[in-house]
Amino acid sequence: MYTIKTLNKIARIGLDRLDSKLFRVDDASDAPEGILLRSADMLEMQMPASLLAIGRAGAGTNNIPSDRCAADGICVFNTPGANANAVKELAICSLLLSSRNIYEGICWCQGLSDGETTVDKQVEKGKSAFVGPELLGKTLGVVGMGAIGRLVAEAAKGLGMHVIGYDPFLQQADVPLVSLDELYAAADYITLHVPANKDTKGMIDEAAISKMKDGARIVNLARGTLVKTDALLAALDAGKLAAYVVDFPDAGVLGHKGIVTIPHLGASTPEAEDNCAIMAADQVGDFLLNGNIKNAVNLPSVSLPRTGAARITVLSKGADAAAIADAAGKVTASASGTRGEYAYAIFDGAVAPDAVRAIPGVIRVREL
Ligand code: MLT
Repeated sequence: MYTIKTLNKIARIGLDRLDSKLFRVDDASDAPEGILLRSADMLEMQMPASLLAIGRAGAGTNNIPSDRCAADGICVFNTPGANANAVKELAICSLLLSSRNIYEGICWCQGLSDGETTVDKQVEKGKSAFVGPELLGKTLGVVGMGAIGRLVAEAAKGLGMHVIGYDPFLQQADVPLVSLDELYAAADYITLHVPANKDTKGMIDEAAISKMKDGARIVNLARGTLVKTDALLAALDAGKLAAYVVDFPDAGVLGHKGIVTIPHLGASTPEAEDNCAIMAADQVGDFLLNGNIKNAVNLPSVSLPRTGAARITVLSKGADAAAIADAAGKVTASASGTRGEYAYAIFDGAVAPDAVRAIPGVIRVREL
């Protein structure tokens, strides 16, 4: 029986995927084998020695110390694509928010009351202060053409936008791929769909903004840390940027003219919550029961259908792969992969876990 602890509310439909004969969900457990979470901050958490897998019901994993987890033999999963439609829909909404002064207009409306002039008359008189451009015919630059970026690009094309994309990991996409500098130079609207990591931290800084079109509008439903706040505020104040819509507000951006703040609603739809919970629970469950890895962010993808034979899984770093295979025993089926410094292998057959454990560089051997 494996114990799963949840650190955030995980949709019931996901937890129900975990067979109650094999798993128990216990949020008070000090020794879970699996953790499921959304945005709980695990960065400083001391991981229980029992922990084997963490499943993030969402795409971003910047709240989980994935490198430290890999070194400790803990597999970290995310759910790429499971909430992509929800984020896409908010991205389209955000493009309109960035353009049409809808938020400012709503706030203004809410402050009106009938006086010498009635509200309807004040509305007609005052609305010209909120004029904003249409999306049709404008250029959208999509930074990051993953599951979300691709959907946003398609939807924006449907609105008549000219869409270009940037993605360092893609050679081809359904929109022209350009360099980041080319995207900045051409885009009227820029939407960010990249993970928060050391390469993307502060990527929208003074230098990047200086390459953008005057009056460009930025949508950030990815993570707040991608944008350098000082540079953003200065560019908005100077009129270099026209608007910024962010789903990850902090104190630095609240109340600033030209900024629309959304309280991290990107994936807050029942559909996305269900999809993410199902995917996270399935992946963690399959890893705990069978050792299969799919959609991990810190270890390679490796899967092997169960053959009915005994199974061991071996996670190693800098170990001699041939020595591991030799020591594994009489193997009838196997699969393996590497990611960075880490190697992961699954062996089925008359396996010999203790011999593998003795090999230098082996981090964890599981018997399944
Ligand atoms: C994600 O990382 O998937 C989105 O920001 C939504 C979420 O955090 O739930």
